[in-house]
Amino acid sequence: MNSEPPRPHKSSRPADPLHGMITVPGDKSISHRALMFAGLAIGETRVTGLLEGEDVLRTAAAMRALGAEVTRDDPGAWRVVGAGIGGLRSPDDVLDMGNSGTAARLLCGVLASHDIFAVMTGDASLRRRPMRRVIDPLAACGAVFSAREGGRLPLAVTGAAEALPLSYRLPVASAQVKSALLLAGLNARGVTEIEEPAATRDHSENMLRHFGASVSVVPHGQGKLIRLRGQPELIAADIIVPGDPSSAAFPLVAALLVPGSRVTIAGVGLNPLRIGLFTTLREMGANIVVINQREAGGEPVGDLVVSASRLHGVDVPAARAPSMIDEYPILAVACALAQGPSRLRGLGELRVKESDRLAATLAMLRGNGAHVEVEGDDMIIAGGASRLGGGVVMTHMDHRLAMSALVMGLAAALPVTIDDARFIDTSFPGFISLMQGLGAVIEAGGFVP
Ligand code: S3P
Repeated sequence: MNSEPPRPHKSSRPADPLHGMITVPGDKSISHRALMFAGLAIGETRVTGLLEGEDVLRTAAAMRALGAEVTRDDPGAWRVVGAGIGGLRSPDDVLDMGNSGTAARLLCGVLASHDIFAVMTGDASLRRRPMRRVIDPLAACGAVFSAREGGRLPLAVTGAAEALPLSYRLPVASAQVKSALLLAGLNARGVTEIEEPAATRDHSENMLRHFGASVSVVPHGQGKLIRLRGQPELIAADIIVPGDPSSAAFPLVAALLVPGSRVTIAGVGLNPLRIGLFTTLREMGANIVVINQREAGGEPVGDLVVSASRLHGVDVPAARAPSMIDEYPILAVACALAQGPSRLRGLGELRVKESDRLAATLAMLRGNGAHVEVEGDDMIIAGGASRLGGGVVMTHMDHRLAMSALVMGLAAALPVTIDDARFIDTSFPGFISLMQGLGAVIEAGGFVP
């Protein structure tokens, strides 16, 4: 007998125009890093705007288990008293990183250069994801990892007592791997040197500087060469977390697709290495105006005024992938409803996200009547689907697929149902009520087999 509680499935259906002014939760990448770097600093860091999604709460719990003092004062307002670099202790129990690849991979870097023993696991999605991309290079600092077959969680790590600095060329453009190596390099004597083949989000580098470390970054071929001098003193420094552009993507695309809509999304992070989606949507004819550009906590921020637009197909170069890697499922929805074909290139990394997002996005679109093909690492979407919708989307424990499918249902001809809405809380707690506040129709769904 299956005793698992029923999954809370949801349906969205075509909506009247969306209107209103909203903010989206804090940036997930910056929130994880704020807790980790502050946990390694000396003194008390106040963080405002922290994302209180499941993923980040896992990082908070892990840093606490490792000896940092992590306290929630008010919604989004947290305080961290760091243990200092090298000052963390072995946790009493297994670290459970839930659904979060960022938490798991970055934490491997922290653990690798501390003289401690830890065991890490995660949920069924995270236990399927590859960890070798971090544990292989991290082993060179002297840490000993043993992971389940295929380099998967659970894993155990005995960190290096005297970590060696790392010198590594990333085989894939991954900010998670880069950040894991930088975190390990913090407690290594000497200079850690990382070459990335293409520029990836630089929140770790920005935050290291914010805490007083010396990081040099120089252009190198298509990418960058990053050097960090180990064992700096990180000094606590308050952090303001901007709204997550990857979360803003969902109401933004909904506003573009639902005729007559106009939505303002305030306080969105506009780091140039995160906004490939906005560039792409503009190429498709999107009316997105940025106002009130400012800086908050060392990151560029602005308010996005989005008006419904007639979108046309687009050809997105592979080189743009690192700056919009999490946005392909929602972009694919926009492409299915745009006029004319689109080609999204270089999507290989989507296969190792919270789900196999390439396969899951293909199934989401096909199951709702769109014409889509995958050729190698490219996705080709016919566009102009007039009878889109009517399907049930399997979300495979993946928050971004769940939100993409619900947005599709708002703009499609027929409702769209998702099998499971629970994972939305990993990155965007309150997503459904926020969308309903704009006028979206999202309700308890139809029959899910
Ligand atoms: C992240 C980097 C990306 C992204 C993930 C968050 C980060 O992963 O998909 O959601 O915070 O560094 P990769 O760097 O592995 O592409």
